[in-house]
Amino acid sequence: MLIALGVTGGIGAYKAVEVARGLQKRGHEVVAVMTHSATRFVGPATFEAITRRRVITDQFEAGMNADIEHIALASTVDLLLIAPATANIIGKLANGIADDFLSTLYTATRAPVLIAPAMNTQMFEHEAVRKNLDTLAARGARFVAPGEGYLACGWIGKGRLAEPDAIVAAAEAILRPDGPLRGQRVLVTAGPTFEDFDPVRFIGNRSSGRMGYALAAEAARRGADVTLVTGPTALEPPAVREVVKVRGAAEMHRAVMLRAGDMHVVVMAAAVADYAPLECAGQKLPKDGDTLTLVLRKTPDILGDLGHRRVSKGGGPLLVGFAAETENVVAHATAKRENKQADFIVANDVSRSDAGFDVDMNAVTIVGAAGAESLPLQPKSRVAEEILDRVEKLLAARPAEARHGSG
Ligand code: CTP
Repeated sequence: MLIALGVTGGIGAYKAVEVARGLQKRGHEVVAVMTHSATRFVGPATFEAITRRRVITDQFEAGMNADIEHIALASTVDLLLIAPATANIIGKLANGIADDFLSTLYTATRAPVLIAPAMNTQMFEHEAVRKNLDTLAARGARFVAPGEGYLACGWIGKGRLAEPDAIVAAAEAILRPDGPLRGQRVLVTAGPTFEDFDPVRFIGNRSSGRMGYALAAEAARRGADVTLVTGPTALEPPAVREVVKVRGAAEMHRAVMLRAGDMHVVVMAAAVADYAPLECAGQKLPKDGDTLTLVLRKTPDILGDLGHRRVSKGGGPLLVGFAAETENVVAHATAKRENKQADFIVANDVSRSDAGFDVDMNAVTIVGAAGAESLPLQPKSRVAEEILDRVEKLLAARPAEARHGSG
């Protein structure tokens, strides 16, 4: 979504850079609107580099009025967030004064407004400021309360800008008030596993992690409390509650088994190695002979262990597996679903060069209790939506006690 981030001239202006980053990490576009005094605390170039957009600093800049930008922006933004908001801007907004871009944008937009005040304690408690805050609240503006602590002016008290994480969370709560997966704890595994056989060498696979990362991001977007357990990838992790970085299958097994009891859903999108070297040499293996023999041992089957634990103990999270197949896709995926006791298996035909491993698109067949359903070639983000649509349906059909996790 598009967020206009208004930055006004307070010492907390530097924290707005973190706010912009946090919003972007959650998949939002940010356009920074700085007042003249804000630019004395932080340079517009900083926001430009972070947001990769031109920063609006002046209503009367050349070109600014050609497309009546404040009107264009006012009708396209999904949220106007002002952090930090000084007593001055709060006074202007409350009284309808529109003498710069930010105050004009406020009067022109009908998007929700979120204000993070920051000022000296005495100012914050002043009747004039209180009255202005009340006026804005009565008009529907929402606030992120300032924190208590050391203020730049030497006072200790209320007035310090709230922490960037709290501001980002408040923005998210407005933009996604009630995701369908709110309250659900979802664990997603992603990426390959690397199985070391000496200090510098390993056996890996071509999984990029994109499918799992897309699932984690989409589950978070739907309000779930997401844990991402990821093998080595080059991807920037999405904004989720916890990211656990692992390397080998055994480590991934431990990380997942430790957390699965608390989860409502586990999606095993990782391409876990089926075999790992029996031993990892302490020193780099020398190039001694014409051939090298490595002895491999089966890795623990994470999805299988979760499935069997569920059968033996009852309850347990909803389980989604993936299957990378090169032939007889449906038959193999059906057998895997049964062997591993998963609720459904998302089967990839990895023999296709346009889908599956290491590309952005995927064409999957979903094999569940009711049979197989083939989906068209589509971006992995869209496949993630399809998978989570099915997860939501299955969760809704579960008995109430299973929906509260298995303990
Ligand atoms: N998986 C797992 N633990 C393993 C291997 C695989 O949890 N040690 C999971 C994968 O994350 C995936 C599913 O099991 O969700 C299927 O993985 P795949 O390797 O395709 O299937 P296997 O059952 O291992 O069978 P095969 O390699 O023989 O096709």
